Amino acid sequence: MTTATSRRDFYQRIAHLNAAPLWEVLSEIVGAQPHPGAIPAIWKYSELRPFLMESGELITAREAERRVLILENPGYPGGSRIAQSVYAGLQLVLPGEFTNSHRHVASALRFIIEGDGEGAYTAVDGERVIMHPGDLILTPTWTFHDHGNPGHSPVVWLDGLDIPLVNFFDSSFAEHLPDEATQESVLSEHPSFAFPFAPMRDALRNKSLDACHGAKMEYLNPTGASVSKTLGAFLQFLPAGFSGAPYRSTDSTVYCVAEGRGSSLISDQLFEWSARDIFVVPSWCPVSHQAAEDSILFSFSDRPAQQALGIWREHATPATAPHPH
Ligand SMILES: [Fe+2]
Repeated sequence: MTTATSRRDFYQRIAHLNAAPLWEVLSEIVGAQPHPGAIPAIWKYSELRPFLMESGELITAREAERRVLILENPGYPGGSRIAQSVYAGLQLVLPGEFTNSHRHVASALRFIIEGDGEGAYTAVDGERVIMHPGDLILTPTWTFHDHGNPGHSPVVWLDGLDIPLVNFFDSSFAEHLPDEATQESVLSEHPSFAFPFAPMRDALRNKSLDACHGAKMEYLNPTGASVSKTLGAFLQFLPAGFSGAPYRSTDSTVYCVAEGRGSSLISDQLFEWSARDIFVVPSWCPVSHQAAEDSILFSFSDRPAQQALGIWREHATPATAPHPH
């Protein structure tokens, strides 16, 4: 028997004992560096919006809590994820729609994309907050939440959740309340789970520019911790003409353009973006941002989860020295 044949024969004989040879898969399962299955991609809001509105006719108000277009990474068709460990979707709540309360283990954050700020709200454990474009609203793990839109305009937000992580751990639980059990919510003057856009935007203007990120801040809870144990959220300002140095990190990052126009080079692909577009930078893909106008980018990633596990890595390309003349 040749070596190859005798090895194959051996593999077959151990297979029925539920054993397998590590030497055949070692380099695949213990990679020398990340090889994400997700690929860099962009979702143009102007292209998606008509379909989102069409879903408003297909999916009734009663089902509005799940009227979401999942932003699905082309590397994971049918995978309900925008990257290996993070989920993103666009949710629409039309005027006159109110959802029942539910809760789940998965943590959520919402970055408001569209709305007139005239009444559409999210309630978390009975605390209601009005959704204005640019606001970040959190739904911590296992908190009851519902949405309503007593206003006159549709409200649309980017949903970010740690669903793939929770499912990886086989730790998902969810609970849906019937109409009569949905709790009353009260408008909160100082909500503990929302970050209005204006103060974050103002704070960015006072920050110095980093060569890779421009002026960038993480949204932090009053305790100084990330917005969730699994997901971190960030806001960054890129002045017109900014051309960032390449950066890579192991947290797959979802960007949503809050303001402005520019482009990002992700690995070797250039993505042009403008306000409300969403794009994803999978783990360890080098990214560099260029701003054609003053621009503000919201982003979220699984960085806190990786940091808690002690596995997060980043690499910033040092600013290149000026060419000698
Ligand atoms: Fe939910």
